[in-house]
Amino acid sequence: MVELTTGGRLSGIFAADDPYSLARAWLSEAEGSEPEDANAVALATVDARGLPNVRMVLLKEIEASQNRGGFVFYTNFDSAKGQEIKVNSMAAMVFHWKSLRRSIRVRGPVERVEDKQADAYYASRAYQSRIGAWASKQSRPLANRRSLLAEVAKLAAKYPRKPPRPPHWGGFRIRPVEIEFWSHGDFRLHDRFRWTRMTPDAAKWTVQRLSP
Ligand SMILES: Cc1cc2nc3c(=O)[nH]c(=O)nc-3n(C[C@H](O)[C@H](O)[C@H](O)COP(=O)(O)O)c2cc1C
Repeated sequence: MVELTTGGRLSGIFAADDPYSLARAWLSEAEGSEPEDANAVALATVDARGLPNVRMVLLKEIEASQNRGGFVFYTNFDSAKGQEIKVNSMAAMVFHWKSLRRSIRVRGPVERVEDKQADAYYASRAYQSRIGAWASKQSRPLANRRSLLAEVAKLAAKYPRKPPRPPHWGGFRIRPVEIEFWSHGDFRLHDRFRWTRMTPDAAKWTVQRLSP
């Protein structure tokens, strides 16, 4: 078990040898208690002006590997978030599970998920969602809903069976240098443990308890 920088050891719901397995365990617990979308996260990026932006996405994978792994989500590369990541490849995300009164924060550089992995995920999606990824010019102005539905119909006619993954659509991976686990405590005396490492390639993490 991991030792804290201030002495003592992680215990109870915070006990873990690495933050990925702890995040996976919390997410899987949340899947049993959240009414919808336990994997929903707020994803923060920064635009060219330095202005932060935040929106919800679905976290699709917490990869196993200690020093190559990451937190994976899928989106349109030409969307606002896609553009922002192109300009500044740093991002942060936060889960909040009201049913568990717990939260996880993740920060780090972002990279694109490899084509093979993105293809496999795209192929696993419902047909209409795959067509939707072609049809939507995410984050750009849309005259009306009718024109979106016309685009959907056009692309469904073009790809009646197996649409290929659109070149503008795929996955991003946050490679964390910081992961914080937070759990509600009575009278605002919450528990917080922050795992940090020097770089996203480092295998060694250190853990610190933080004041609520
Ligand atoms: C619960 C929830 C889950 C969402 N999941 C995704 C997702 O996985 N990928 C995505 O591109 N947008 C997702 N969206 C839509 C985004 O919040 C957002 O509207 C869209 O990605 C455009 O954001 P942008 O203009 O900042 O790029 C989701 C919205 C909600 C409320």
